[in-house]
Amino acid sequence: MIGRLNHIAIAVPNLEAAAKKYRDQLGANVGEPQALPEHGVTVVFVDTGNTKVELLEPLGEGSTIQGFVDKNPSGGMHHICFEVPSIADAVAKLQAEGARVLGDGKPKIGAHGNPVVFLHPKDFDGTLIELEEISSS
Ligand code: CO
Repeated sequence: MIGRLNHIAIAVPNLEAAAKKYRDQLGANVGEPQALPEHGVTVVFVDTGNTKVELLEPLGEGSTIQGFVDKNPSGGMHHICFEVPSIADAVAKLQAEGARVLGDGKPKIGAHGNPVVFLHPKDFDGTLIELEEISSS
């Protein structure tokens, strides 16, 4: 069901400092910051050729990322994102098998303008998994 690894997300306390490290020290191709209020984050994508790194900084009150950064003050790996051809099919299959989709189970629009859902980390080996619908057109 899952396809390519779309990105690995790292939550950081300071997005500007993190983006600068990837750009200047690691020599990576670093994008512009993008505010996603619906997800409570500001993101910067780092294109590594075969996949991307998504740097996440908490945005706004009650950001779910804030709790993570509080527990991991120097930052840490937050989630991994796989591509799927259909979110609806993926959610139906996973829920039928007892896996928990976070929130109301309905997809939200993610950073790339595509529908995304998140799966409960307790159902996937302690790892938060994001599924992103990538239409093959
Ligand atoms: Co993500």
